[in-house]
Amino acid sequence: MKKSFKITSLLAFVLLVVGSSCNLSKKVVESETETKITCNDQITYSSTIKGIFDARCTGCHSGPKPANAIDLTSYETASKVVAHRLKCVITWSDNCNRMPPSGGQLSSEEIQQINCWMENGFKN
Ligand code: HEC
Repeated sequence: MKKSFKITSLLAFVLLVVGSSCNLSKKVVESETETKITCNDQITYSSTIKGIFDARCTGCHSGPKPANAIDLTSYETASKVVAHRLKCVITWSDNCNRMPPSGGQLSSEEIQQINCWMENGFKN
């Protein structure tokens, strides 16, 4: 009787530890994927957006014949891309071409930064 009680409480303890450590690791993963950035005036073309475009977009959207006549290499040309088109392509919405078409979608942080840039009124 005493032995089985010990085993039962040991088992309960193990389950508790395993259970809580699972919860713990799940929470960490969640906070990693949900990086929420705050929109502020710091998110400008030159500080943030040019880096994203250069890394993921200008391979096609540059040069004498940029894809779809959209040149993303300079502030003057990139800020002319109408906001709803930009939002639509980077979020891979239906009825829109998915950009970039290769190499995977932009990270959620990059998408949020571009959204902020548009909300802030395309600051240079
Ligand atoms: C591999 C080449 C390539 C890359 C990289 C690329 N694009 Fe495109 N993009 C195209 C082509 C080609 C089109 C013309 C539409 C089509 O054929 O898909 C286009 C069209 C567009 C359009 C207009 C779409 C519409 O429906 O109005 C926008 C806006 C755009 N791209 C933005 C971007 C952005 C922002 C990035 C980076 C996050 C990017 N593109 C990366 C090739 C590319």
